[in-house]
Amino acid sequence: MKNVNDIIWLDNVDSTNEEARRRFQICDNLSVLSALSQSSGRGQMGNVWLSETGSNLTFSIIMKLDNGLMNRIQAYDQFAICEIAALAVSDYLNSLDIPAMIKWPNDIYVNNKKICGILIENMIRGEWLSGSIIGIGLNVNQDRFDALLPNPTSMCLESSRKYDIHECLEDFMHIFTEYYHRYLNIKGGLNRLRTLYLAQMWHKDECHRYIADGKEFSGIIRGISDIGRMVVETEKGELKEFAFKEIEYII
Ligand code: BTN
Repeated sequence: MKNVNDIIWLDNVDSTNEEARRRFQICDNLSVLSALSQSSGRGQMGNVWLSETGSNLTFSIIMKLDNGLMNRIQAYDQFAICEIAALAVSDYLNSLDIPAMIKWPNDIYVNNKKICGILIENMIRGEWLSGSIIGIGLNVNQDRFDALLPNPTSMCLESSRKYDIHECLEDFMHIFTEYYHRYLNIKGGLNRLRTLYLAQMWHKDECHRYIADGKEFSGIIRGISDIGRMVVETEKGELKEFAFKEIEYII
């Protein structure tokens, strides 16, 4: 089993996801590129990811999925990558008594505030997933945020203590690597991963307000479709599936 021995720390980089893409061929499976600061940190939907220099974790994991050693993952099952990344972060935070939940598809929330964002870029060859770059921005020691950010928090704000970011990354990677071997690299693992994800999902089986198609409505998250869409029960009792960007939580 591969252990956590390939963490590369960089002082400054444009984006660790970009750096991981540039180094993809020369890095081993499960190598990690972590930066103290990013000049063009990227978020989902073309947003920027802002992070105070040296205070937080901003890193990318290189995953090589067609190395001949593991079960191959179909492109159809690519939501599994979201699932292991989000579950590993929420488990890591819960292990520190920081009560984290997964906001579909892969934001991590604590006490109704965002503590971590994940940007996954998959590579597909034919019907298979050939690789993935998993970019994770986890707020660790930052205690003041740009007023324009909607509802940020950090490990420090939630637990009133400071952390050593190097230690945090090593501890996180132990959990991530265990998830990888236990669920991704094993037959039948994806079904078990889905069950764990559903159990950690924020607002699952609770009535909550959402916006879709410009209209606000009350709904109840009932599950995830095969390809990772969120399944919501509307007030009329209908089950509707939403792709990422088609629905927004009202927080
Ligand atoms: C989001 O919008 O919630 C996703 C944020 C992802 C940020 C991380 S920080 C490390 C990696 N490098 C990037 O440029 N983005 C991701």
